[in-house]
Amino acid sequence: LSILVIHGPNLNMLGIREPGIYGSVTLEGINRLLSEKADSLGCTLSITQSNDEGVLVESIQDALGNHQGILINAAAYTHTSIAIRDALSAVKIPTVEVHLSNIYQRESFRHHSYIAPIAVGQISGFGANSYRLGLEALHHYLNQQE
Ligand code: DQA
Repeated sequence: LSILVIHGPNLNMLGIREPGIYGSVTLEGINRLLSEKADSLGCTLSITQSNDEGVLVESIQDALGNHQGILINAAAYTHTSIAIRDALSAVKIPTVEVHLSNIYQRESFRHHSYIAPIAVGQISGFGANSYRLGLEALHHYLNQQE
């Protein structure tokens, strides 16, 4: 089982970026947690980050035939990108959406997600643990589908 992990814009800045909201964990730290979780679940991860919407769309397109699941924090593109949503719909790969912060507790422009309606589910508000929980939930979902 191979899962593609996608980190969207500004997540490369974790650790120095608004630590009151996102915590002090770095992206490298999150990726380490994810790799440990993947090892214990027995799945393979491919991890990518981009600040560019088009690059994210291409990563999703390239996942077709290569990955069985997608774990995505599209960051600000969650709230703006029809292109990323359409790419996920096109490849039809089961997707779990994650956010470090609880987006429903924040500004109203963060309350809407273009991805949520086409995702298996969403995990929001648990900091770095959102990713771990998301990976576990996605893995569980994919195993049930087989
Ligand atoms: C985020 C929430 C988004 O609203 C924000 O634009 C981000 C990070 C989160 O993980 O909490 O960049 O996706």
